Amino acid sequence: MPEFQKIEQKELMENPSALSVNPFEMIVKQWYLITGGTLDHYNTMTAGWGTMGIFWGKPVVNVFIRPQRYTFEFVEAGELFTLSFFDESYRAALNFCGSRSGRDYDKAKECGLTPRDFDGAVGFAEAQTVFVCRKVYSYDIKPEEMIDPAIEKWYPSHDYHRCYFAEILGVYQKEK
Ligand SMILES: Cc1cc2nc3c(=O)[nH]c(=O)nc-3n(C[C@H](O)[C@H](O)[C@H](O)COP(=O)(O)O)c2cc1C
Repeated sequence: MPEFQKIEQKELMENPSALSVNPFEMIVKQWYLITGGTLDHYNTMTAGWGTMGIFWGKPVVNVFIRPQRYTFEFVEAGELFTLSFFDESYRAALNFCGSRSGRDYDKAKECGLTPRDFDGAVGFAEAQTVFVCRKVYSYDIKPEEMIDPAIEKWYPSHDYHRCYFAEILGVYQKEK
């Protein structure tokens, strides 16, 4: 298996071209796993929404997690989490991790994924790209603050996402 090359946050700020990603392609089409916790006790789930950019002078991601997800507990409790992006051959794994709960399954085992330490956070050895992220801010979507009422349609069960701003501490990438 090819090894990861690491891009540090500093390098990402000084030379953004070091990271050649298309966030729309990666998030909307490819999807990814959000993983919180430690190697002893972690959980992972598929996400298909999210944002990447710059805020408070740092490269950041935003991820959006509904409170009933088991992963929510891990992301809430820890300072770090990862985003793991895979090539298309892992589509079935992403479907599994996005439709079953870690409360009922050992998802990594079921999907043949190998959890691995990434600077104190947990990601997966089979990933193509892993973002190591540190939470800096969170807020909940509130119905009374919706400017466009049309977005309420995403919440028939009133399970409003919690949004996490997290700085990107580093990005691990494999040669394609
Ligand atoms: C393509 C796809 C994208 C998803 N995106 C999100 C998301 O952005 N936020 C979220 O809370 N759930 C999302 N989900 C649902 C969770 O992945 C799913 O509920 C999962 O089973 C939660 O697992 P857990 O209980 O082990 O955390 C998505 C599911 C799929 C299939």
